[in-house]
Amino acid sequence: MKVAIASDHGGINIREEIKDVMKEMGIEFEDFGCECETSVDYPDYALPVAEKVANGEFDKGILICGTGIGMSIAANKVKGIRCALVHDLFSAKATREHNDSNMLAMGERVIGPGLAREIAKVWLTTDYEGGRHENRVGKIKDYENK
Ligand code: RB5
Repeated sequence: MKVAIASDHGGINIREEIKDVMKEMGIEFEDFGCECETSVDYPDYALPVAEKVANGEFDKGILICGTGIGMSIAANKVKGIRCALVHDLFSAKATREHNDSNMLAMGERVIGPGLAREIAKVWLTTDYEGGRHENRVGKIKDYENK
């Protein structure tokens, strides 16, 4: 599995935590910034990473900003992206099992590093269940292809 990760200035610390988690898990990843602590615009990071996941260059993507909201809104504009904004372990598992989410967004001003690490671990290791969810995810894909 190859994962693309990025954050804005509001998510730098948790981005580093998640990179450590992926190193520990032996997961291949690439970091797409941001490089600075000055203010940047989250769509400049969310959209390129979402495109890399949508075009198959990466299997999954992880985005962090202050709230996770801006990143998730931007990423979900890219066709083929199902970006889940997650701040609890139940949702981390459920969104992989039910939604086949291919991107994860979190907010560094919402949760601490310990929970963010656990969310990433669960999200990265939980498989999509398919079955009854296939029809539902299929309806989203159909809408995108209209
Ligand atoms: C940046 O101040 C902040 O707006 C951003 O990190 C994010 O929370 C947006 O949704």
